[in-house]
Amino acid sequence: MIDRLNEQYGLHGHVHFAGGRGGMPRALIANDHADAEVYLHGAHVTAFAPRGEAPVLWLSPDAVFTSGRAIRGGVPIVWPWFGPHGSDSTKPQHGFARNLQWQVAATRACADGSSEITLELTENEHTLALWPHPFRLEHTVRAGRGLSMVLTSHNTGDEPVSLGAALHSYFSIADITQARVEGLEECTYLDQLTSRIVKRQPGPVTFDREVDRIYFGAPRDRVIVDATAGRAVHVATTGSRSTVVWNPWVDKSRAMADFPDEGYRNMLCVEPANAGDDVRVLAPGEHHTLTATISITP
Ligand code: BG6
Repeated sequence: MIDRLNEQYGLHGHVHFAGGRGGMPRALIANDHADAEVYLHGAHVTAFAPRGEAPVLWLSPDAVFTSGRAIRGGVPIVWPWFGPHGSDSTKPQHGFARNLQWQVAATRACADGSSEITLELTENEHTLALWPHPFRLEHTVRAGRGLSMVLTSHNTGDEPVSLGAALHSYFSIADITQARVEGLEECTYLDQLTSRIVKRQPGPVTFDREVDRIYFGAPRDRVIVDATAGRAVHVATTGSRSTVVWNPWVDKSRAMADFPDEGYRNMLCVEPANAGDDVRVLAPGEHHTLTATISITP
């Protein structure tokens, strides 16, 4: 399979395929601007670093790479529902797209020196048992000085579908207690820990306990200020009116088998999403695109 992928989609100086952890195929992107890694499992970006910079994404050292499970860290794709399934708790949290192997559809060397890979997922017996709708999901990852991700959901069936989604980005943070998220000031949020709507975020989001919130209607880019690292991570998005901010803190870190007990100190999720009331209804033939563009500045 790796040989076939390299023959068909390998691009000298841009994209190379290799076996990864758990024997899973992955695309390794290396160009003049950046290094990145994308597993076909989940169309999951597991690493991104502009050349000469420290890793932008956090990947759990205890992540499990196996069919049917999500990789902990990087950018899992949450789809077609966010969080627990609305009516059936036996269905996987955050949907199934992150648990399945996708197909490579294209690779591209871009004029600005960045590299692109597009992966696709369509319905099969397994997805139809969990969610009875045909679909085509397309994810394009472009790595250059920044990282851009473009997730397009196509309703290929003959009934309307309701979609929740998130580009569940785990960022690497030098010290969470010194970090803050700007750009969500004044936004209303759903506190997922209490199920309460809070009317207004007072100032930047800071971290001294577990945080699990869905912010609505942020008017500008979110900026993670990683003060200890001396850098800022900018998260721009389109197709989204909701942003999830999550840090599991002490107890939840301990409770997750694929997450180190102290892992919460060095990570933060800021997730461009279609979550909460921001689910999207697609009529037959319609599509919706959710994007995230990530860049860093000193
Ligand atoms: C976040 C949710 O997006 O993902 C949290 O807001 C959840 O509630 C977290 O705990 C991790 O979810 P999972 O399924 O990857 O463990």
